[in-house]
Amino acid sequence: MASTKETPFFSLPLLLLLPLLASCVEKQVYIVYFGEHSGEKTVQEIEETHHSYLLYVKDSVEEAKASLLYSYKNIINGFAAVLTSDEASKLSELDEVVSVFQSNQGKYSLQTTRSWEFVGLEEKEQLVHTKTDDLLVKAKYGKEVIVGILDSGVWADSKSFSDEGMGPIPKSWKGICQSGDAFNSSNCNKKLIGARYYLKGYEQHYGRLNGSLDYRSPRDKDGHGTHTSSTVGGQRVQNASALGGFARGTASGGAPLVHLAIYKVCWAIPGVGKEQGNTCFDEDMIAAIDDAIADGVHVLSISIGTNKPIPYTEDGIAMGTLHAIKNNIVVACSAGNNGPNPSTLSNPAPWIITVSASSVDRAFLAPLVLGNGMKIEGQTVTPYKLEEKMYPLVYAAQVVAPDVPKNHAAGQCLPGTLSPEKAKGKIVLCMRGNGTRVGKGAEVKRAGGIGFILGNSQANGAELAADAHVLPATAVNFDKVIQVLKYINSTKEPKAYIAPARTVLNSKPAPFMATFSSRGPNTIFPDILKPDITAPGLNILAAWSEASSPTKLTGDHRVVQFNIISGTSMSCPHVAGAAALLRAIHPTWSSAAIRSALITSAGQNNNMGMPITDATGNPANPFQYGSGHFRPTMAADPGLVYDALYTDYLLFLCSNGIKKIPLLFKCPKVSPPAHNLNYPSLAVSRLNGTVTVKRTVTNVGVGKSVYISSVKPPLGLSVKVSPATLLFSRVGQKKSFTVTVKAEGGAAGKEGNTEYRFGWFTWTDGVHTVRSPMAVSLA
Ligand SMILES: *[C@@H]1O[C@H](CO)[C@@H](O)[C@H](O)[C@H]1NC(C)=O
Ligand SMILES: *[C@@H]1O[C@H](CO)[C@@H](O)[C@H](O)[C@H]1NC(C)=O
Ligand SMILES: *[C@@H]1O[C@H](CO)[C@@H](O)[C@H](O)[C@H]1NC(C)=O
Ligand SMILES: *[C@@H]1O[C@H](CO)[C@@H](O)[C@H](O)[C@H]1NC(C)=O
Ligand SMILES: *[C@@H]1O[C@H](CO)[C@@H](O)[C@H](O)[C@H]1NC(C)=O
Ligand SMILES: *[C@@H]1O[C@H](CO)[C@@H](O)[C@H](O)[C@H]1NC(C)=O
Repeated sequence: MASTKETPFFSLPLLLLLPLLASCVEKQVYIVYFGEHSGEKTVQEIEETHHSYLLYVKDSVEEAKASLLYSYKNIINGFAAVLTSDEASKLSELDEVVSVFQSNQGKYSLQTTRSWEFVGLEEKEQLVHTKTDDLLVKAKYGKEVIVGILDSGVWADSKSFSDEGMGPIPKSWKGICQSGDAFNSSNCNKKLIGARYYLKGYEQHYGRLNGSLDYRSPRDKDGHGTHTSSTVGGQRVQNASALGGFARGTASGGAPLVHLAIYKVCWAIPGVGKEQGNTCFDEDMIAAIDDAIADGVHVLSISIGTNKPIPYTEDGIAMGTLHAIKNNIVVACSAGNNGPNPSTLSNPAPWIITVSASSVDRAFLAPLVLGNGMKIEGQTVTPYKLEEKMYPLVYAAQVVAPDVPKNHAAGQCLPGTLSPEKAKGKIVLCMRGNGTRVGKGAEVKRAGGIGFILGNSQANGAELAADAHVLPATAVNFDKVIQVLKYINSTKEPKAYIAPARTVLNSKPAPFMATFSSRGPNTIFPDILKPDITAPGLNILAAWSEASSPTKLTGDHRVVQFNIISGTSMSCPHVAGAAALLRAIHPTWSSAAIRSALITSAGQNNNMGMPITDATGNPANPFQYGSGHFRPTMAADPGLVYDALYTDYLLFLCSNGIKKIPLLFKCPKVSPPAHNLNYPSLAVSRLNGTVTVKRTVTNVGVGKSVYISSVKPPLGLSVKVSPATLLFSRVGQKKSFTVTVKAEGGAAGKEGNTEYRFGWFTWTDGVHTVRSPMAVSLA
């Protein structure tokens, strides 16, 4: 009871009071989660049960019915409904309710960087830029494997989704091809075997979908979903050509004969330019995951993340995909594009393969020539060319409109900032920072500039995004920006010329980590090292929606069949494609075994034989790339795997203090330490003295084998693996060992020394190398 003596509530000015009152009764979508279905109830009984919970908090049957958005009936037991916060907390107090959480608008989005680009293909280019031919043959190109993709839908007419040469639809498949706006069952085939869309959450928030913004169907008006789907499993497309015949060649997905199932869950945001991104709601994604499991997908690729880490109990992707694991589905998710700051990663759960992004060994070089004869390497995939001669060159801050403040943002070519009088006919240098990269080009064009130089900020380092700008352009790294600025300062009439772009393979060093890729440590589950692995995510070429333009800018009306974009959105489907190949080769392996194979076989060196670096040339660490760059061929024969069962993840949740976990499982009185989850890497946060961690490996190589351990301990720590040798006599045999990590005298006891140190331990039999990275911070 509130004390009546305290009166400030009533003495608040009216203006303050009104919003307060409004927020008390404000209705939001909540997800009410019970865990899993026991399989005893019919679909109708499930819905009735969900209604009865709503009736418990609502006044009438009508109100209860009207508030329900989704009743999750297949695998996941829960519902999404419009509730007040009081109603939500009343439900959360019930014993059988595992959690109730609010679906936050703007929480999730597709993980491309905010730039959209286009390019053609070079001869014999492959999307997966690794030597995987033998692997592909062994995996029969992913035949009979089904990959589900949660994204913005699909442009089904793309040649990448033709079903030529595809095997029959697997008998196990239970999905559908959902009709809607410009999409019907004729759009599905033996390649695209399923397509559905989910927008109840979106429409609850934004009102009815505006048909000119997006298709009310699985059809993709954005391009992103088409890009990720074709990266996972697009057909080989020969003589693929892009706008203006820019270049042509063969394009192919990672597993070209897999079947694809499309779950459209991300939509355009009303009133916001499409180049700014899109949004995906928890309740829509959970519905999609629930269907995908029941439909019978084998792999899920989810290039969706949050802009900051969110707890497990509020994370629809983590919650939904835990159920996928019970059905042995491999789940790959993007780590997010919020780097280079630490502790920024999305999708931190141990049942997910969390993928970060790095470069490929391909560059699109468009040299910049300065008036003093200096030649600077830049990159672009713009199809527009300048007539070969010198043009006046200016820095954007020199040609801003009179009313634009002369601060550092003045050099960024933000919309409406440039003066047409001053910029006309010139090449303009614009700095990265705020705004989209392609938007800066559009601004230069608006102001009458004839070309532009996109200058990296210091943080961007040498990471050049090759963009399909709307005018002649090239992007240069930060060091080169300084040179251009110096040149501009040094002369009265600075001049420049941008040469047309050409594609160069075997560029070095590659890979390097993308600056935008989100970083560990894992703040949600500190005992799990994340990200797990890195894969190509910078300037990635794949199919595109013909209802979108390569830049997605409102004024860009170009239509392309292929486009280049960047993000952990692009790296995630590479790993999903690799997982599909592994599933084809090893159909009986668990999702944990497939994840383990990918992680322990990853590589740490670039194509110069040196450790992988970040975009500025500093050595990268496991908080950037996990165990390293994926190597699908090695992963097919990993030697040993760290296996785990669904119940191991439930125990892991118990260990993390999440006591209310799926209905059919009870946490033991004493939970095992969280770091004992049989994970193929090791994270210890705030080590005080000594910790001993248990692991178990399963022999999946040859029958008789001897594995010997080796260790690279983190700085100031000692690491002991015991026993140091493991003898196997047959395939399938399991052996356990412990890893004891001890803080040495000097390293320990340093108050607040929370900085992480990195090392690894490895098992090898002379043929296989099974490597586990480790990250340790001290108490
Ligand atoms: C699907 O739509 C196309 C184009 O509108 C139409 O020609 C075709 O008959 C439709 N197919 C089915 C199965 O409805
Ligand atoms: C739908 O979107 C278009 C394009 O953005 C816009 O012009 C139109 O006003 C929108 N319609 C409604 C009803 O909001
Ligand atoms: C490739 O396509 C172009 C048209 O886009 C055509 O002119 C050319 O002949 C084709 N080349 C081959 C080898 O099919
Ligand atoms: C981007 O804009 C935000 C908000 O106006 C500002 O705080 C930030 O400093 C800007 N960043 C850069 C790199 O200009
Ligand atoms: C160019 O000149 C301006 C103004 O004199 C100065 O602020 C800036 O530091 C100079 N830039 C370089 C790269 O020399
Ligand atoms: C480390 O452990 C010792 C002994 O168990 C304890 O006294 C000390 O407070 C711990 N230090 C930290 C930082 O937790």
